[in-house]
Amino acid sequence: MKDARPILGEGERLVLVSNRLPVILQRQGGKLQAEMAAGGLATGLSRPHRETGGWWIGWPGRPSQNEQLDPEIDAALRQQRMIGVALTEAEHLSYYTRISNRCLWPLFHYFTDQVEYAEDDWETYRKVNRKFTDKVLEVAQDGDLVFVQDFHLMLVPEMLRRQRPGLRIGFFLHIPFPSSEIYRVLPRRGEVLRGLLGADMVAFHTLDYLRHFRSSLRRVLGLEVGPRIVPYEGREVQLMAQPLGIDAEEWRARGKQPKVREQFERLQQAAQGRRIILGVDRLDYTKGIPARLKGFAKLLENHPELADQVMMIQVAVPSRVEVEAYRHLKDEVDRLAGDINSRFGQPGFEPLHYQFRGVSPDALSALYQIADVALVTPLRDGLNLVAKEYVAARTRDDGVLILGEFTGAAWELGEALQINPFDIAGIAETLKQALDMSPTEQARRMAPMRRRVGQADVHLWADKCLDTIRKAHDLKPPPLFQGELRSKLEQSWRRAPRRLLFLDYDGTLRELTTLPSQAVPDEALLGLLHALGRLPATEVWVVSGRPPDLLDEWLGETPVGLIAEHGAFLRPAGQTNFQPLHPQTALDWRQEVQEIFEKVASRVPGSLVEAKPFGLAWHYRAADPSHGVWQARDLTQHLEEVLGGQPVEVLSGNKVVEVRPAGIDKGSAVQHLLERVEAGTFVLAAGDDKTDEDLFRKLPPSALALLIGARPSAAPYRLPDPKALRHLLAEWAAAPSFLPSISVAEGASKDEQA
Ligand code: UDP
Ligand code: G6P
Repeated sequence: MKDARPILGEGERLVLVSNRLPVILQRQGGKLQAEMAAGGLATGLSRPHRETGGWWIGWPGRPSQNEQLDPEIDAALRQQRMIGVALTEAEHLSYYTRISNRCLWPLFHYFTDQVEYAEDDWETYRKVNRKFTDKVLEVAQDGDLVFVQDFHLMLVPEMLRRQRPGLRIGFFLHIPFPSSEIYRVLPRRGEVLRGLLGADMVAFHTLDYLRHFRSSLRRVLGLEVGPRIVPYEGREVQLMAQPLGIDAEEWRARGKQPKVREQFERLQQAAQGRRIILGVDRLDYTKGIPARLKGFAKLLENHPELADQVMMIQVAVPSRVEVEAYRHLKDEVDRLAGDINSRFGQPGFEPLHYQFRGVSPDALSALYQIADVALVTPLRDGLNLVAKEYVAARTRDDGVLILGEFTGAAWELGEALQINPFDIAGIAETLKQALDMSPTEQARRMAPMRRRVGQADVHLWADKCLDTIRKAHDLKPPPLFQGELRSKLEQSWRRAPRRLLFLDYDGTLRELTTLPSQAVPDEALLGLLHALGRLPATEVWVVSGRPPDLLDEWLGETPVGLIAEHGAFLRPAGQTNFQPLHPQTALDWRQEVQEIFEKVASRVPGSLVEAKPFGLAWHYRAADPSHGVWQARDLTQHLEEVLGGQPVEVLSGNKVVEVRPAGIDKGSAVQHLLERVEAGTFVLAAGDDKTDEDLFRKLPPSALALLIGARPSAAPYRLPDPKALRHLLAEWAAAPSFLPSISVAEGASKDEQA
């Protein structure tokens, strides 16, 4: 086992949740004993599970007569710090056999013709997810880390979040996440996505799956999704691609054990000098076993001389036999195996050794070591551990891995001979290539794969997942600005010798509107700005992304300073002209961007282009939400390609994509105002979107920064909406001040000065 660095902090416990418990229940001396079963996930997670005094929650593998687990099973499991979820046969049939194995499994593996769905079964899927959730809630406390596994339990993260928001929740999908074109077939597609987004981290084996998940979030829920972050209900959900690893060290060590060496020698004798091709899979239609056997038959057909030089061993582990498709598959594979042996067999020798039964890890290790070629050709596979195990179990850098390109493992094992598993002729040709491969070429391919599988092992996978969940949870919105703190700061505000305010406009002082032109300030807001601007020794700035002429039209009569276009222009209170803060800015890119924006606007009904003196924006708040978000993503990608290397920034804001000159932001615009601030000045800033974060980051530590809305932010406190901010400002503007009476010029409005 690797280093013993603690993965979790003191007092934090790991609660694991998976459909199956990694356990073998056996009677010993009349007493039921639970033994932890070996296996990828169990190996990776057992240390943090054990060391933190955590729990593993799952189905113990036996149906229950009623809602209660058999007390004997319960006691045996609890000794291993496991908690069994009692499922009746009927529940198990609907939740596991029907929804998990006949609907989600085929759909997520692109076998749409196998998908069956019934609403009643879905209700049971929901009910069973609730049962797992309830078991977690029995033991998990705030701050504990709950790590939910796989497609059987996709609703659990949201159920947990609703009931116990203080939990840190992670989810890992062990099967592919399909393209959104496929995913959208699922009748309860929105419910599943929302279920997953209850987690702090949603993780996949590969970047492709992550990309597919992101596009489903956009297309189905209309969410705006960053490359690795999904802002959702005031939280930021982290997305991660981290392929599951194996315990490479253990596979290496196992190969050297005497009992494994003995099995190896027995196999060697049985092979009688023949080269060995190995296949190891659960008997599942996703694994491509029929096409693989046909590929082997084709090899023997094309090269009859190989018939007594090679043999193939196919281990097929019985799986999900209650599903009809699996029974059909077994019939097909039995028939194919029989055909091959009758066509190519000789008296006393069959070229295909096919067994419908699993083998022990030791036997597997001997098989991995004896196999000249591992033929791993699933039609679709979330990852495929067998490929990694074959690589790790080889003690010398020999052997050839043939790997289907639709496995998640193909992402990491680039030196394998990668093939299209549907191409039977291709399988035969690649087998020939593998059998002919020189030892030097074998080592050139095998050595880097062994290194990689050794480094990115299951312990690294567990560390990365748990680390990400912990950090992700800390990315939560700041607390509400209320209570004692608010009263205390009101006192400071009243006592402060000077005050300096930076207020964003849209979404901060004023609610967002469907069309940008509708956000005209009403009398009450204008009155508030007048009241604030007239306070003694108080300087108020509206810091907006809006262009100067519009700010002048809407707010020009109020006694406040205006910063326009995210800091491109500035006009102190009482003045009439805006000063450009970046007069030398190059605008050569504008023409091209304008054309691109106009094309998109003509394609997306309800969207429009806004031209500012410097920047250009495409607004889509009034467009169909999912169409808008989808187009925005394509547009952003396209702009980033077209504008690469130019001095501009592409911003995806709240229902807007904006291109603006680089280096202009609200933070740099207020910097010089902050530099001349006198000690003791009460600085207050409020803003709602990403552009306001630039400003928050420039504020001195003593400033009061308020986020309007709910998401993680550099601001230490938040208010729920513009109304709450207006209320606070009105209250503070009216609060009796300890300052001497009005005397400062910048407090006067234009009217008063005139
Ligand atoms: N395996 C096993 N006994 C067998 C055959 C396979 O224990 O007879 C193990 C194998 O070592 C691997 C796992 O089953 O760890 C199969 O994982 P994989 O990712 O290849 O496929 P899955 O079954 O998860 O789809
Ligand atoms: C895949 C799934 C696992 C599942 C395993 C065996 O690897 O991702 O969640 O446990 O197959 O399937 P079974 O239905 O027997 O649990």
